Amino acid sequence: MEGINISTKLFAAINKQIGFELYSGYLYKSMAIYCKLNNFKGMAAWLNMQAHEENEHAEKMMEHLIDRGYKVVLPKIDEPPSNFKSVTEIFEKAFEHEKHVTANIHKLYKLAVAEEDYPGQIMLQWFIKEQVEEEANAGEIVDKLKMINGNLGAIFMLDHQLGMRK
Ligand SMILES: [Fe+2]
Ligand SMILES: [Fe+2]
Repeated sequence: MEGINISTKLFAAINKQIGFELYSGYLYKSMAIYCKLNNFKGMAAWLNMQAHEENEHAEKMMEHLIDRGYKVVLPKIDEPPSNFKSVTEIFEKAFEHEKHVTANIHKLYKLAVAEEDYPGQIMLQWFIKEQVEEEANAGEIVDKLKMINGNLGAIFMLDHQLGMRK
């Protein structure tokens, strides 16, 4: 009987994260729909771009596993929430979500270290750095929305600013 390949555990965990990255994209898409419906077109554009980035994250992990001969099986993606009360709630949820992703990435890294998987560590280091940015970006918007405190004029100014994201 074959023993369990030491990398199999890590690869399976990364495969699971691929599903979570795709879910992240799905979540941001759902948030973008709410924003667009409520005429926050800049925020919708920002969130759509974010959704696109999440798909790229999934792609990056997929490529890593496939390059190393692992048969990636795309997991089922959960239905994201679609009822939001406000754009403030959306960005608070986005911020919370990114913190959750960061925790997942750190766990994966810990596993890659424990299994002495060097290529996996390097691949995950990119994500560790990326998550610092992801949290900072979402956190900044939450902070601004708190300062704005429901002032519609200021919300639309922020909407315009977020719509400029390249
Ligand atoms: Fe991501
Ligand atoms: Fe993200």
